[in-house]
Amino acid sequence: MSTPKFQDWMLATQRCTEAALERLLPPASQVPERLHEAMRYTTLGGGKRVRPLLAFAAGEVAGADAARVEIAASALECIHVYSLVHDDMPCMDDDDLRRGKPTVHIQYDEATALLVGDALQTLAFELLSHNVLSDDATRQLRVLQVVSRASGSRGMAGGQAIDLASVGKALTRPELEFMHIHKTGALIRAAVLTGALLGEVSDEELERLDHYAKCIGLLFQVVDDILDTVADTATLGKTAGKDAANDKPTYVSILGLEESRELARELATEAHAALAGFGDRALRLRELTDYIVSRPF
Ligand code: IPE
Ligand code: IPE
Ligand code: MG
Ligand code: MG
Ligand code: MG
Repeated sequence: MSTPKFQDWMLATQRCTEAALERLLPPASQVPERLHEAMRYTTLGGGKRVRPLLAFAAGEVAGADAARVEIAASALECIHVYSLVHDDMPCMDDDDLRRGKPTVHIQYDEATALLVGDALQTLAFELLSHNVLSDDATRQLRVLQVVSRASGSRGMAGGQAIDLASVGKALTRPELEFMHIHKTGALIRAAVLTGALLGEVSDEELERLDHYAKCIGLLFQVVDDILDTVADTATLGKTAGKDAANDKPTYVSILGLEESRELARELATEAHAALAGFGDRALRLRELTDYIVSRPF
């Protein structure tokens, strides 16, 4: 059988993630209906599903069982969506559009947005702990450690705290990198490690995949900063130009557009180099790297 083209693989994997989330999220008919409806409203039917795609792609490197990866990938997407719901709230970035739809606090209300985030985050850990995801319980526990660490104050939530404290400030380049590695890089890194840990990789291979994951984690937010300045609202499905409007330090505000683009290319090159030696097993991770650099939104 010939290998599907990247676009076909991506579409099939996004569909598979959508179907898994559809199945794993509580039904909207279950009490409390409004909360469950809001969780489904924000999680289903949108987004690029980059973290699930990375988990599946890393799972392919490690020969992981796709049905198990699917559950972990759904958990990662739940954490990501929770972070978006809270990121959009008036107390954070104050956005009214996400994935082409009104944000949760606009469509519902602020209290619901807060609870949607709380509930998606805890659902993620329920999924990771209530299902057998590895024959080796220690390995599954390691996934839980990786994902919990990546989500908390020493990962994504910490990065978000730094982001909020940086409004109106001219951060140094190392400070900016620290913020981005945490607010966005941490969960992306966890997605790659999760896919790898659910299969079989040596410590040395895990080390190389981790290096890859760190590169694309930072790369992802550098490109997000670029897109905020060059893409339009209709394409992004979220308000363009919001970073400047909110006076956020970004790669574009600190390095300028051209240097940010150059950095993105450098990070992609470094990511590719980290995959050398994995052969065809890493095809999807390579393709995802190029997709992350050139994605339209
Ligand atoms: C946006 O993430 C927020 C960041 C962490 C940069 P994505 O660009 O992955 O958003 P969706 O999931 O595709 O909507
Ligand atoms: C968001 O960064 C990072 C997280 C949600 C953790 P941004 O604030 O730049 O994301 P967008 O641009 O609103 O998607
Ligand atoms: Mg933000
Ligand atoms: Mg934001
Ligand atoms: Mg942004």
